[in-house]
Amino acid sequence: MKEKDLKTFNRYTITAALPYANGPVHIGHLAGVYVPADIYTRFLKLQGKDAKFICGSDEHGVAITMRARKEGITPQAVIDKYHHLIKDSFAQFGIEFDVYSRTSAPIHHETASEFFTHLYNKDEFVEEVSEQFFDEQEQQFLADRYIQGNCPRCGHENAYGDQCENCGSTLSPEELINPRSMLSGATPIKKETKHWYLPLDKYEPWLREYILEGHKDWKNNVYGQCKSWIESGLKPRAVTRDLDWGVPVPLKDTTGKVLYVWFDAPIGYISATRELAQKEGFDWKDYWCKSDTKLVHFIGKDNIVFHCLIFPSMLKAHGDFIWADQVPANEFLNLEGNKISTSRNWAVWLHEYLIDFPEKQDVLRYVLTANAPETKDNDFTWKDFQARNNNELVAILGNFVNRALVLTHKYFEGKVPVLGALSDLDNQSIEAIKAVPASVTGSIEQYRFREALANAMELARIGNKYLAEREPWKLAATDIEATGTILNVALQICANLTVVLEPFLPFTTSKLRAILNIPKYNWDSLGNAELLAEGHQINAPALLFNKIEDAEIEAQIAKLEATKEANAAAEKQPLPLKGSVTFDDFGKMDIRVATITAAEVVPKTKKLLKLTLDTGIDTRTVVSGIAEHFKPEEIVGKQVCLLANLAPREIKNITSQGMILMAEDQNGKLQFVQPGAPVWNGGTVN
Ligand code: MF3
Ligand code: ZN
Repeated sequence: MKEKDLKTFNRYTITAALPYANGPVHIGHLAGVYVPADIYTRFLKLQGKDAKFICGSDEHGVAITMRARKEGITPQAVIDKYHHLIKDSFAQFGIEFDVYSRTSAPIHHETASEFFTHLYNKDEFVEEVSEQFFDEQEQQFLADRYIQGNCPRCGHENAYGDQCENCGSTLSPEELINPRSMLSGATPIKKETKHWYLPLDKYEPWLREYILEGHKDWKNNVYGQCKSWIESGLKPRAVTRDLDWGVPVPLKDTTGKVLYVWFDAPIGYISATRELAQKEGFDWKDYWCKSDTKLVHFIGKDNIVFHCLIFPSMLKAHGDFIWADQVPANEFLNLEGNKISTSRNWAVWLHEYLIDFPEKQDVLRYVLTANAPETKDNDFTWKDFQARNNNELVAILGNFVNRALVLTHKYFEGKVPVLGALSDLDNQSIEAIKAVPASVTGSIEQYRFREALANAMELARIGNKYLAEREPWKLAATDIEATGTILNVALQICANLTVVLEPFLPFTTSKLRAILNIPKYNWDSLGNAELLAEGHQINAPALLFNKIEDAEIEAQIAKLEATKEANAAAEKQPLPLKGSVTFDDFGKMDIRVATITAAEVVPKTKKLLKLTLDTGIDTRTVVSGIAEHFKPEEIVGKQVCLLANLAPREIKNITSQGMILMAEDQNGKLQFVQPGAPVWNGGTVN
């Protein structure tokens, strides 16, 4: 064994990525970060370990100011709105943080400023003047996200300074063709500005030793990303920005400059710990500065560089801190085959889920863990959600527990029966109980939560099969002692399930504990086949899970379909302009106002209406392809614009004398072009 493996930790600092307070949280957040972090922390605490679970809202940076712009409110209003929404969602899903703070809190501003100042005084930064895009009208430097232009790769008109959302290329603002400021629309100029850089290149040897040598135990996806970053050469990174929202740079003559959000946000973990320490009265330094503390960062894969290379370098540069022992980053969860996206509303929002599926927090926790994107991107589908609920939670776990409880009440007045002579099947089930700790503990310790959950569920599966094979309901009439033995074993399985499932399904285990009339046992009790004493009274049973019907799932799928259609409409671009015409060309067209006096569907067609028009000069017939958009009776009496001198055409044996002008909306629906107020028939349009 290596020395490292022998290391014992006396304390755990568990962090979960601070979500941006620029929108509600969705299933991707839960699956990728918060559920695994919660499972792990609950597991530690059940073992009586000293663990602090730290999180809060990330309230600075361009993500917030962009949202404020979009919603037409201040950044402060944005963070206030979403901080509380996010905090509530987490609480409702049983994500039990010890502290959920926010980076706008004074203690964070103080901590982040001090951290910066400490590095500055130690001369750890490189100061550099460079040219950045500047909006002269707004007198503001422009973050990459605030510059739009044509994509140099695909030509897309609205690519951002950091990325083209059409072709997915990563860009720098210099590459944009015809760059323009999103604040004023003006063409930005280049202007000199001074910033402070953390020289990551200086930490490269250390990072190699820390990660590439010291942490071969990290997940492949994490280790691989770190290796490729380190090997492609690390460059100094600016830790300040020209922006009016964030932690002000704590130096002289730096008005309009703030700490870069990725500098201040991870320090937020420290600030939140300090906030907790003040409340609970412990020394926060124990959790950040002592080498017998294990620091674990739960994050999504887009955060790997920041948590594995940059933040550790910051901590190293500071000198007083420990750095992460583990960074179990997850891949992404997709939704019904497409990438989850806040801006495209392609998500299952947690606060909305709870309205549609009240009290079903554990169902979502279960599905997201069973299908967690631990080693590759995974897909969440509503059909899979329904299947896992109905076939696993209801049919296996719920069914087993319910049978054990109901039969105990039926034959033994709700008292745990005596364990009598054991058959082979009884013995096998008892062995299964004893084997659970070994099969689940190791998986959790290696951050393999889906495997751990599958192994925990295996106990319910075994219990279910055991009852099906032993059929105590048939035995009861002839052999009440054997019936009691079976139910005793089944109830011991139930009691063990309250322990092993606690990190995963805390609402269910709490419900089951109440029914079994037992306290919350420690992880040490797991595997004990005598958790329940003979004669122990249990309470009345209640169902742990309910079937989810097709109609509920179809409603969710329909909701997503509607989002898809709305997005398609929003993204539709108007047709490009045609070539120019002369004024004389236009003058040849005689457009008049006329009134529809009669309308009927042209027989044997779906699209055509035969219209009779009063043009003020004559009465004429026009065949128009609008039958799919209007019913004949609803358009009689309407004033329209008519291209009156279009050469007559034969359509379905009717002579059509002219053409009605129609406008098309984004969804392809037609609308009449009409005068803004009624005018006389025959009035000209030019
Ligand atoms: N807000 C970031 C995101 O959602 C994560 C910040 S994690 C922290 O991607 F370490 F910076 F706090
Ligand atoms: Zn592009």
